Amino acid sequence: MSTPILAHRAVLLEEAVAALAITTDERRDGIYVDATFGRGGHSRAILARLGPAGRLIALDRDPAAIAAARDIQDPRFVIEHAPFSELAAVLDRQGVARVQGVLADLGVSSPQLEDPARGFSFRADGPLDMRMDPTRGVSAAQWLATATEQQMREAIGGYGEERFAKQVAKAIVDARARESLLRTEQLAAVVAAAVRTREAGQNPATRTFQALRILVNRELEEVALMLPQALARLAAGGRLAVISFHSLEDRLVKRFLKAASADSLPPDLPIRARDLPQQPLRILGKAQRASDAEVAANPRARSATLRAAERTDAILDLAVLKHALTEHGPDAWRS
Ligand SMILES: C[S@@+](CC[C@H](N)C(=O)[O-])C[C@H]1O[C@@H](n2cnc3c(N)ncnc32)[C@H](O)[C@@H]1O
Repeated sequence: MSTPILAHRAVLLEEAVAALAITTDERRDGIYVDATFGRGGHSRAILARLGPAGRLIALDRDPAAIAAARDIQDPRFVIEHAPFSELAAVLDRQGVARVQGVLADLGVSSPQLEDPARGFSFRADGPLDMRMDPTRGVSAAQWLATATEQQMREAIGGYGEERFAKQVAKAIVDARARESLLRTEQLAAVVAAAVRTREAGQNPATRTFQALRILVNRELEEVALMLPQALARLAAGGRLAVISFHSLEDRLVKRFLKAASADSLPPDLPIRARDLPQQPLRILGKAQRASDAEVAANPRARSATLRAAERTDAILDLAVLKHALTEHGPDAWRS
């Protein structure tokens, strides 16, 4: 597959890298993970802060991102083609037990969105694929060819938060009885005819395309599997920084951080916080959003939310956090 010559502008770059606190000599020579290399905006900023003995282990599930990483010629840097749900296995392969920081900048990159051949966009016609890793799994077209109307309705309503999910699912089932749905333009037209109310400034296919993208890439399951692995591999004082781009993802991150920190305790508990057993994470400040200036320069930053937390030295009992994620990632708790 050819590498699209399209750029990605890193979102919340300074804020996310600052959250990793690569500030002391010891931390500069630590090991960090960029779980979502993309085009390497965050990776390059991390490398610029690392000391000579520091290391950066990057992952991406998209072969085009892996190809783009060849530009980084730095002995402190390594990248693996893997989904971040396999973070622990990647670290094992790299011979790494504990890390000082994990960054995840979730969702899709601009090169993925803007290359019609990837099938993410309703604006330009292309094959209806939408896989971030086209070497694995089922494309959007394949899923739509076999899913039941009920499955479509649930996915489009649940992942797309589309009010007209019922009508869209029916329209897709009717359309696929007439012809195979193989192109983004075909699907966008079917959805546009089924969605009755237009949201200002939004293409009627936006929500359905978002739903299919989340479904095809198992985006929420991936996050639910990655978070406990990241927590389990953080050294005491290590930082976790996650940027999410839609509310379903952000809700999952927020619930996990709360469950792993004292914030998860009921506020009316008749005990003082300092008398409670220490929790494995300490949430760092409030969720951060991009500044007006960043949004003006990069509209994609508008929906970004950064959450960060620090690993304490409390003993980790992952089972205690289970309820925060079971909805999306029961497998996360197997090992
Ligand atoms: C928003 S972009 C990251 C951009 C990057 N921070 C930069 O500065 O260029 C998200 C990237 O994460 C990758 N990605 C998304 N979900 C993933 C997953 N579950 N495992 C591995 N990579 C993933 C995508 O392929 C995409 O390249």
